[in-house]
Amino acid sequence: MKYINIANTDLHVSNIVMGNMRLTQLTVLEAEKLIRTAMDEGINFFDHADIYCKGQCEEIFSEAIQMNPSIREKMILQSKCGIISPEGYFDFSKEHIIESVDGILKRLRTEYLDILLLHRPDPLMEPAEVAKAFEELHQSGKVKYFGVSNHNPAQIELLQKYIPYKLVVNQLQLSIAHTPMIDSGITLNMKVDQAINRDSSILEYCRLQDITIQAWSPFQHGFFSGTFLGDLERFPDLNKVIDRLAEKYEVTNAAIAVAWITRHPANIQVILGTTNPQRMKDACKGSEIPLTRQEWYEIYKAAGNMVP
Ligand SMILES: NC(=O)c1ccc[n+]([C@@H]2O[C@H](COP(=O)([O-])OP(=O)(O)OC[C@H]3O[C@@H](n4cnc5c(N)ncnc54)[C@H](OP(=O)(O)O)[C@@H]3O)[C@@H](O)[C@H]2O)c1
Repeated sequence: MKYINIANTDLHVSNIVMGNMRLTQLTVLEAEKLIRTAMDEGINFFDHADIYCKGQCEEIFSEAIQMNPSIREKMILQSKCGIISPEGYFDFSKEHIIESVDGILKRLRTEYLDILLLHRPDPLMEPAEVAKAFEELHQSGKVKYFGVSNHNPAQIELLQKYIPYKLVVNQLQLSIAHTPMIDSGITLNMKVDQAINRDSSILEYCRLQDITIQAWSPFQHGFFSGTFLGDLERFPDLNKVIDRLAEKYEVTNAAIAVAWITRHPANIQVILGTTNPQRMKDACKGSEIPLTRQEWYEIYKAAGNMVP
């Protein structure tokens, strides 16, 4: 397992993360096995959100491992707030952020979060109010570091103008079959759809600002449209290349899908959403497979992208 430092923090983290969004699909015993498998593979970073099954995923997590201070010390815990579900709107008000963190801490049975992320941009946010919430949470010891998810550069700068702490993480959707943050740079200034800059060059911005990118849904295409792995109807060429490289590196297709992300020099963390311990083990092998440049581009092209 490869470990990286999250810039502007004292956190030394695995580049593979266990995502907990689907944890309610498991019994408590099964969840315990999954978390133990993750830790045995070297994962020390766990991603949550208050909306994952309305807090139930956080509850199952802490119940499964019977959270206590000695286990807590071995983990880096991150959660997110700001989405009101199922009503379907965003709330970055000070009251909501503080109340949300109190709920997260209670459900995770911990005194503090290592990182709190704002889940999706709230157009109605008052950055000064977010700053007040963050200051209160930091001063009370409830949150050590702060970050965002699904935010573009200007949204980050707007927050950063008021927030006295450096935002250290931006969690974004990225998989071989979902690559807008790479596409527009490769096809710069061309009159093709691939060149549409959908995120104001967020990848380069995060690298410039030393913000760690976390890739969510690394095995999915579309917006939770299913996995591209093994989908020979929709992704025949991609699976052919992935399977050939899996054979070469003596790993599974899941490891190659992970390796395509970890090979990027931005030191991106990959958030696995699997509920299957064997798939988790297999995927962790992608933590440090040294795909060659040629292999990385071959995969990118096999996903249907142009390299001019
Ligand atoms: N910030 C955000 O807005 C945001 C949004 C979504 C997710 N996230 C985070 O990212 C994490 C990962 O998201 P995700 O769960 O969508 O990621 P994912 O790892 O791409 O998808 C996991 C799902 O794909 C299935 N799967 C994987 N490989 C498969 C295969 N070869 N054949 C059949 N099914 C396969 C898994 O089934 P099995 O369980 O059977 O393996 C599971 O249902 C979440 O847990 C959450 O922490 C963040």
